[in-house]
Amino acid sequence: MTQAPEEGKKRVYELARELNLSSEALLKVLTEMKVEARSHMSTLSTEQAQLVQQKFEKEKQEARSRASRGRKRRKRKKKNLVTAEAVKTVKTTLASMDTKKARGRKKKRRKYREEKSERHEKQAAASVEETGVLRVTEYTSPSELAEMMGMSASQVISKCLGMGVMATLNQRLDIDTISLLAAEFGYEVEAVAEYGAEALETMRLMTSGEEISRPPVVTIMGHVDHGKTALLDRIRSSNVIATEAGGITQHIGAYVSRLGDGSHITFIDTPGHAAFTAMRARGAQITDIVILVVAADSRVMPQTEEAIDHARAASIPIIVAITKMDLPAANPDFIKQDLSQHKVLVEEWSGQIQCAEVSSITGEGVGDLLDKILVQAELMELTAVPERPAKGTVLEGKIDPRRGSMVNILIQDGTLRENDYFVAGRFSGRIRAMFDENESSLREVIPGYPVQILGSSGVPEAGDSFVAVDSEQKARKVSLRRKLVERERELHSRGMTTLEDFWKASSGSESVLHLIVKADVQGSAEAIVDTLSSMCTDEVSVDIIRSGAGGITESDVMLAAASESVIIGFRVRPDARSWEKATDMGVEISTFNVIYDIEDTVKKALSGLLKPEEREEFTGSAEVRDTFKVPKIGLIAGCYVVAGTIKRNSRAKLVRDSIVIWEGSLASLKHFKEDRKEIAAGLECGIGLTGFNDVTIGDIIECFEIIEIAREL
Ligand code: GTP
Ligand code: MG
Repeated sequence: MTQAPEEGKKRVYELARELNLSSEALLKVLTEMKVEARSHMSTLSTEQAQLVQQKFEKEKQEARSRASRGRKRRKRKKKNLVTAEAVKTVKTTLASMDTKKARGRKKKRRKYREEKSERHEKQAAASVEETGVLRVTEYTSPSELAEMMGMSASQVISKCLGMGVMATLNQRLDIDTISLLAAEFGYEVEAVAEYGAEALETMRLMTSGEEISRPPVVTIMGHVDHGKTALLDRIRSSNVIATEAGGITQHIGAYVSRLGDGSHITFIDTPGHAAFTAMRARGAQITDIVILVVAADSRVMPQTEEAIDHARAASIPIIVAITKMDLPAANPDFIKQDLSQHKVLVEEWSGQIQCAEVSSITGEGVGDLLDKILVQAELMELTAVPERPAKGTVLEGKIDPRRGSMVNILIQDGTLRENDYFVAGRFSGRIRAMFDENESSLREVIPGYPVQILGSSGVPEAGDSFVAVDSEQKARKVSLRRKLVERERELHSRGMTTLEDFWKASSGSESVLHLIVKADVQGSAEAIVDTLSSMCTDEVSVDIIRSGAGGITESDVMLAAASESVIIGFRVRPDARSWEKATDMGVEISTFNVIYDIEDTVKKALSGLLKPEEREEFTGSAEVRDTFKVPKIGLIAGCYVVAGTIKRNSRAKLVRDSIVIWEGSLASLKHFKEDRKEIAAGLECGIGLTGFNDVTIGDIIECFEIIEIAREL
C-alpha cells in the first residue's frame, strides 16, 4: 500500500484532477517543464505543484485575453483582415511547395519572394491573433493546428489528452474536435470546405490589372414545357459564327451568343433548376442573370414559382421571357398579372423587371430579349481583370476513352492559356488543349467564356472551383491535400454499404439487403433477379431496388447511395465516372462473370459468412519530390511523408495521377543516411521500391498493412 503524501505535496493524478486534465496529459506537461514524474502515482513537491498551477493559470489568462482582444479588434478592423488572414493561409499551406532550389539569377528573385512572404507571415500571424478565428478544413491534424495557433505541438497534444482524445501528432481530427480544441486556446474555428481555396485566391489577387467588362452569364429557368430548350436552340441557331463553322456544335455546358454589335452573351446550356441548385449547393455562383421563361398560353406554374425563389435566394436579377407568342391562345397580360402576384413586377406594371415577348418558332422578339439582357448586363457593370491567372467554375466533365478527362469550365476572371498549371476541385493538371463549343482549338480564354480543357488528372464535379497556379508542385500539393481530406471524409462517412459489413449492420434491426442488378442482357438480369429474390433466411431478405440490362451508370450509383444498396454487375462494368462516384459516395459495386458466384456471394452476405480474411489498412503516404540513381542499388525516391507513417516493412503502392501503377514492398527506407524502421508525416525520407525503378517526381507512394481478420463460423 502506498502512503498518502505529506501536506502540500500532491500526487500527479490528484493535481491532474484539480486542473481538469488527464494524468497522461499532465505527465507530458511535466516532462516539458523538466519536472521528474514517472507515473500518475508519482509525488510532486509543494513548489512543483504550485509551479504547474501557476503555469496553467497563466496560459488560461493569456488565452482569455487573446480571445477578447481578438473580438474587440475584429470589430474595428474587419475589412483589412480578410486578405491578411488569407495570406497566412497561403504561407502555411503553400510555403513548402517549392522544393527545387533556384540557382544563379533565380536566387535573387527567391530572396525577394522570401522577404515578401516573411512580411506577409508576420502580418498574417498578427491577424489570426486579432480575429481569434482559425479558418481550417476538416481533418486538420494537431501539428497543423499548433502551427496555425503558434503553439508547440505538445501543448496541443496535451490539451487533446486532457479532453480525453488520444490523438497523435498527425492524426486527422474531425471538425468538432478541432473546434473544441481551438476553443481551449481561445480561438474560434471557421470550417472551410475546399482546402487552399482562399490561399490560391489571395495569390491570384496579387496580380493587378485593368478591369474590363465581360459578357453576362445567363441561365434559363421555367416550368416544364414552357419552351426553355426551344428558346436556347433558337438563340444558338441564330449564332452566326456557329453556322459558319458548319453548325456542328458540341455540348460544353455553355455557349456564347455573338451579337451583331460585337457584344457577347454566355448561356448556360442546361436549363432548369437542378443544375442551378447543384452549383449553388457547392457554393458556386456562375449566373449573372436568370431568364424566367413562361409560356404565353399557360400561367405561372409551380416550377415558375420555384425559379423565382431560386433567383431571389441567390440575389440574381430576372428578365421575363414570355414564350410561344405565335400561338393563338397567347395571352401575355395574364402572365404579367400572375407574375405581379409573385412580386415580379414587369415594367408595364410599373416595376423594374424587363420583359420580352418571344416566339422560338418564328424568332420574333428574340432579338429584343438579347438586347434586354445586354441592358441588364450594362447596369450590373460586370467586369474582370484579364491580366490575372485564370479562375473559374467547373460546369461538367467526363472521361473520353481516347483523350482522357475533358472538363468544361466557365472562366470568370483572368486569362487561361495553353500549358497553364491548374487545380480543379481535387484534381490538378496542365492545359494540354482547349476548345470552344465549335470544336475550334483555343490558345487562350478570357473571362466570361466557357471552354473545354484537356489535361486534368481526373474529372472534377460540377460546381468545383478551377484556378490556374504558377507551378506544378503547387497544383499537385493542393490536389493531394484535397484528396486526403476527401478520403478522410470517406472513411468517416457513415452509411457505407458493402456486402461485407451488411451482416454486421443487419444483426440489429436492419434485415433487408438492398440490391441493384445490372446485366449484359435483359434475360440474364431476370434470371439473377429470380434467383436472388427467392433467397432469404428467417431474419434477412433480399430486396431488388432496380434491375436491367446495360452498364452500371451514375444514376445506378446515385440510387444505390440513396437506398443504401449494393450494386451487382453481371458481365457489365461501371464506366470511370460511375466508379469514381461510387468511391466518393461509399457505394459497393461487385461484378461477376458467373451467375453461380453471385448466388454464392449473396448467400454468404446473408448468412454473415462473408468476412474477409485479409484487409488492406492504409498507414501512410509520401510524395515523391526528387529521384536519385544509386549505383548497384537502383533508383531512390526522395520523398516527403504527407500522411500517417511510412514503415519499412509495409506493403506499398505507387500511385500516379490517381492510378495504381505498381504494388510491392519497400527495399529501403532512410532518413538522410540512416536506415529507419518508420518515418512520420512531415519528414523527408528516401525510399527504394523492390524491383521498380520507374518512379517520377509527383508520384505518391502509399503504404498499407495487410490486416488479418479471423473468420467466425
Ligand atoms: P422541359 O425541358 O421538358 O422542361 O421543357 P422546355 O421548357 O425545354 O420546353 P421545350 O423547349 O422542349 O418546348 C416544349 C414544347 O413547346 C415543344 O413542343 C416546343 O416545340 C414547343 N414550343 C416551345 N417554344 C415554342 C414557341 O415559341 N412557339 C410554339 N408554337 N411552340 C413552342
Ligand atoms: Mg428542355
